[in-house]
Amino acid sequence: MVRLSRALAACVTAGALLALGCERRAPTTDRTAPTAPVDPLVQAGAATFARYCALCHGADAKGYAADHAPSLVSSTFLESASDDFLAGSIERGRPGTAMAGYAKARGGPLGDEEVRGVIAFLRSKGPRLAETPLAPARGTAVWGEELYQRECQTCHGTRLRRGTAPWLANPEFLALASDEFLRHAVTRGRPGTDMRAFAGALHREQIEDLVSMLRAWQTTPPEPPPLPPAMPGMEGPIVIHPEGKAPTWKARDGRFVAIDDVKRALDERRRMIILDARATSDWLQVHVKGSVSAPYYEPARLDAVPDDGTWVLAYCACPHHASGVVVDELKRRGYPNVAIMDEGILEWQNRKYPVVRAKGASPPPAPPRR
Ligand code: HEC
Ligand code: HEC
Repeated sequence: MVRLSRALAACVTAGALLALGCERRAPTTDRTAPTAPVDPLVQAGAATFARYCALCHGADAKGYAADHAPSLVSSTFLESASDDFLAGSIERGRPGTAMAGYAKARGGPLGDEEVRGVIAFLRSKGPRLAETPLAPARGTAVWGEELYQRECQTCHGTRLRRGTAPWLANPEFLALASDEFLRHAVTRGRPGTDMRAFAGALHREQIEDLVSMLRAWQTTPPEPPPLPPAMPGMEGPIVIHPEGKAPTWKARDGRFVAIDDVKRALDERRRMIILDARATSDWLQVHVKGSVSAPYYEPARLDAVPDDGTWVLAYCACPHHASGVVVDELKRRGYPNVAIMDEGILEWQNRKYPVVRAKGASPPPAPPRR
């Protein structure tokens, strides 16, 4: 909210309070002058973005609203990310992180046209894609390794462990990112974020070694699980251990229950409902055993949650944002016993607690070191 109102204030001072947020326009002195027509595709994309993406990437797409979701509008990103890179990232997501696959084909909510809209919306906020030759990296991968450990690992993690910055070993990322995309990011950085430009600090050859090393990390992304004949609904029984007693935990701040407490209560066969607040595509890949899919963007699903005092828990990967949306909606509707599963599903998996995993889906990379 703070971010949003700050953005709005900036728009007002620029004399251009637009429904879409801050567009880059010359400030006009004549307040009655009609504003230039907004491309309907951009407008539709803005609405899609607000509903599905702003939660983590921020209303202005500058990132860091939740879970270190990166900026999607930094100049160096937009000038090097092709439409295929953007569409692929949105449609397939980054398994093992909070970034779900949003394509309908993966069980997500977005069709091709909506993805095109989001891309048009992002492109409206920065420079055009630069025409650069797609020269393959010509460095030496093993030399890149030492450099990586010294210069990059604290933020980006290792091949097996995530850091706080985007996980560069992600097979879906490396399948989409060209050598030029990687080179551009390292050389020029991402203005306005923690990613600095390494041009000057590292020789051109060293940057080539790093890019060659990242390329050597590439593996074929696993096939996504086939879509079930019908998408998971809330029709079936959703209460876990319906005959059991209520759990006895105390929710911290009236809002959070530790996953260890949830696991214990499940072992004691306590009665509860567990909602997976992530995109349904993520639920299809892997979910907490007994949970049902109730994505943050579909509040209508919550109509099926019985309002009889049964404890309702929600979790996500973020670990609080999407689940927070679901919990707030249930509280608004007057449900007395609702809470967020504090550490989220990535940590749940890390502790080897029971999950249902699609055939072929790989376990997530280790979480960042605390
Ligand atoms: C201080 C932390 C930090 C260090 C050190 C750092 N990065 Fe980054 N890097 C980031 C962040 C944060 C982003 C995402 C920025 C954004 O767009 O919001 C990023 C983005 C990137 C990207 C683009 C990823 C994508 O998905 O778009 C690449 C490639 C990259 N970094 C490579 C490197 C390499 C190689 C090094 C070492 C030479 C390095 N970084 C060092 C924090 C860091
Ligand atoms: C629950 C939080 C969350 C939501 C919601 C979310 N993202 Fe992301 N997104 C992330 C994170 C975290 C990453 C970085 C993952 C990594 O590589 O470590 C990311 C990465 C991306 C990237 C790749 C950026 C890069 O520099 O490589 C794109 C593009 C993207 N998201 C677009 C979207 C769009 C469009 C939506 C809405 C349809 C969306 N995201 C919704 C968390 C989220």
